[in-house]
Amino acid sequence: MPHRCPWYLGYFLLNPLRKLRQHPGRMLEPHVKPGFRVLEPGPGMGYFTLELARLVGPTGKVHVVDIEPRMLAALARRARSAGLETRIDMRLGREDGLGVGDLEGEIDFVLAFAMVHELGNVAGFFSEAAAVMRSGARLLLAEPQGHVSEASFALECAAAEAAGLVVVDRPSIWQSRAAVLAKA
Ligand SMILES: C[S@@+](CC[C@H](N)C(=O)[O-])C[C@H]1O[C@@H](n2cnc3c(N)ncnc32)[C@H](O)[C@@H]1O
Repeated sequence: MPHRCPWYLGYFLLNPLRKLRQHPGRMLEPHVKPGFRVLEPGPGMGYFTLELARLVGPTGKVHVVDIEPRMLAALARRARSAGLETRIDMRLGREDGLGVGDLEGEIDFVLAFAMVHELGNVAGFFSEAAAVMRSGARLLLAEPQGHVSEASFALECAAAEAAGLVVVDRPSIWQSRAAVLAKA
């Protein structure tokens, strides 16, 4: 089983200096419009989630799934203080899947940032993600260069393509390997 990010590192991932290199607004604005339904698996304490909730606006929704309850508890506190909690649906994940079958064909954008390398079943993950995506929806996959080699990243992209997604862009994200995938 791959190594999972310990919950207390969630605080480190909220470090404000991260914004200098991985600015949530600049990274996500091109992908997320008002009214969108977004899925964010592995949000941690929500470094990207609050920005996603701002971008979808009052008519959109961000569905987050994390396997670590302490990550979700911190995310819930942060969402409440930002007044964004009604835009965020929080779900506790399981080892055997995301548990998002009820969202089939409803999701406009998926953000999978620094989480796929922590999964035991990468093929299963992309098949669940592809099933919830509308046709034409996009998935931004980003992995930390320090943990994921170019060869391993290529295997992740191949698993996504086997699930019916197509790589349409390779954006440059600081210290990351990244791809944008679209559902045909
Ligand atoms: C390295 S953190 C990244 C957090 C966030 N995406 C960011 O970039 O700041 C990885 C997150 O994935 C979560 N995770 C690991 N395995 C998971 C699974 N099977 N289902 C849902 N979340 C999972 C971890 O609990 C952790 O919050």
